[in-house]
Amino acid sequence: MIITIASFKGGVGKTTSAIHLAAYLQQKDSTLLIDGDQNRSATTWAAGGSLPFKVVSETQAPKYIRNFEHIVIDTQARPEQKDLEALADGCDLLILPTTPKALDLDALLRTVDVLSKLGASFKVLLTIVPPPPSRSGAEARQLLAESNLPVFRSEIKRLVAFERAPLEGVVVKDYADPRALVAWQGYEDLGKEILP
Ligand SMILES: Nc1ncnc2c1ncn2[C@@H]1O[C@H](COP(=O)(O)OP(=O)(O)O)[C@@H](O)[C@H]1O
Ligand SMILES: [Mg+2]
Repeated sequence: MIITIASFKGGVGKTTSAIHLAAYLQQKDSTLLIDGDQNRSATTWAAGGSLPFKVVSETQAPKYIRNFEHIVIDTQARPEQKDLEALADGCDLLILPTTPKALDLDALLRTVDVLSKLGASFKVLLTIVPPPPSRSGAEARQLLAESNLPVFRSEIKRLVAFERAPLEGVVVKDYADPRALVAWQGYEDLGKEILP
């Protein structure tokens, strides 16, 4: 399965989602993460050699892809319209992460607009959702439902472990933090929605 993660905006959890979905899929079968962002965030995360799957650049990808069952593609923010078209065409599932913040949702709706005009299919993932008493996650979900957008049931909570794990070069479940397993559970649930 080829999964691409994209958005018009940075800082919405694309790289974090790509890393953790790849970790989930690797439990099922061999998985390759292609780092399509010039900032090379995923490559830097992988540099210590402690991730349970392989990360390569787009340039290296042709040599590797035939050896892997699952491919996850992390992309850079601000793709142009023609890039989005190619992104959507080049995968089995296009995931659009967004936080519940108004500006992020606004960027998401613009992305969706472009994709809908192209007839491309996609699914939205709510990320970096603040804990109660904030209602922003629920409100964002309602807005997305009113816009008739497909949204994953799973959502990713805002947890410090996600900010720390990349510094140690590990996935969040391997990070020594009492909330690490709660953090991982979000991506495990997402993974089960995609590939039970
Ligand atoms: N669920 C989360 N909870 C807390 N911080 C998060 C979460 N997901 C991502 N982050 C942090 O937010 C920032 C942006 O995440 P990142 O995955 O790099 O987004 P993008 O690839 O879309 O730019 C990073 O500092 C990351 O550690
Ligand atoms: Mg990124």
